[in-house]
Amino acid sequence: MTEFDEWLKKTTAETEKTVYAYLPAEEGWQKTVLSAMNYSMKAGGKRLRPLFLKEVYRMFGGSGREAEPFMAAIEMIHTFSLIHDDLPCMDNDRLRRGLPTAWVAYGYDMAVLAGDGLAIYAFETAAKAFALTDRPERVAESIGLLAQKSGIYGMIGGQTADVELTGKPLDGEQLDFIYRLKTGALLEAPMMIGAILAGASEEQVRTVERMASCVGYAFQIQDDILDLTSTQDVLGKPVLSDEKNNKTTYVSLYGMEKARQEVEALSAEAAGLLETLPGEHEHLRQLIGMLVTRQK
Ligand code: IPE
Ligand code: IPE
Ligand code: MG
Ligand code: MG
Ligand code: MG
Repeated sequence: MTEFDEWLKKTTAETEKTVYAYLPAEEGWQKTVLSAMNYSMKAGGKRLRPLFLKEVYRMFGGSGREAEPFMAAIEMIHTFSLIHDDLPCMDNDRLRRGLPTAWVAYGYDMAVLAGDGLAIYAFETAAKAFALTDRPERVAESIGLLAQKSGIYGMIGGQTADVELTGKPLDGEQLDFIYRLKTGALLEAPMMIGAILAGASEEQVRTVERMASCVGYAFQIQDDILDLTSTQDVLGKPVLSDEKNNKTTYVSLYGMEKARQEVEALSAEAAGLLETLPGEHEHLRQLIGMLVTRQK
């Protein structure tokens, strides 16, 4: 194991612990939906979004606890997006994070409600940051940003175009819109929130947004590549899901060779932007580099 591998393992475990601390207790008459929410949250996953949030916060000198509720909140939003993404009316997939998807394990009704539950509880959780900060205006701005990047002008907007255009020919501009919103937005949000909470300047937050946008786009292209080249065992989710759904992806539109090149180019662009930012960011640089070669 390299020093980076060890750091990633340790930081992922710490990140997961922080996220788990904010999960709801499974009790009361609504216990079933709470179990379904926690089932999907605890199934595993790389925890990249809260990890990015924490690292950018740290890079800009953040040392308080107000980032913690946001780390949990972004993972809740992401998990909600996956629960709904897997539903039969969307991608119709049966495996996620190595376990049966929420709708397979809990039924359609509870899977829809678990997604709704996580989406709203994410904001209830994020609001807990007010009690942990002496800069409430930064928390308020972060909550607004989390909503914007998750909602109709962010992830939900992207998912809308993704499912509506499924099976139809797509051009590059439409694909761009989908990737920037369905995946990019949920990587921009945590990195920007980390920066905002730590007191980064407006210009620095914009640079972080551009960097995260490159990371998000590269991340989705790599997801498309893995959908074609990996295995269900390694990914913990079905392969050839895009083909099954007749989806136009970056790979189907431009070919595998160009897709691989673009992941590298975007990752290099993100690394270049990172270098313009202050603070110690060696691990962040390596993490972005790792996304190019990631196998899951
Ligand atoms: C999967 O995201 C959905 C995409 C945006 C491609 P991740 O690959 O980060 O999924 P987990 O959180 O590790 O399960
Ligand atoms: C992921 O797109 C986007 C969101 C879930 C918001 P995919 O549909 O490609 O993600 P996977 O491959 O199912 O994880
Ligand atoms: Mg999808
Ligand atoms: Mg999917
Ligand atoms: Mg995919």
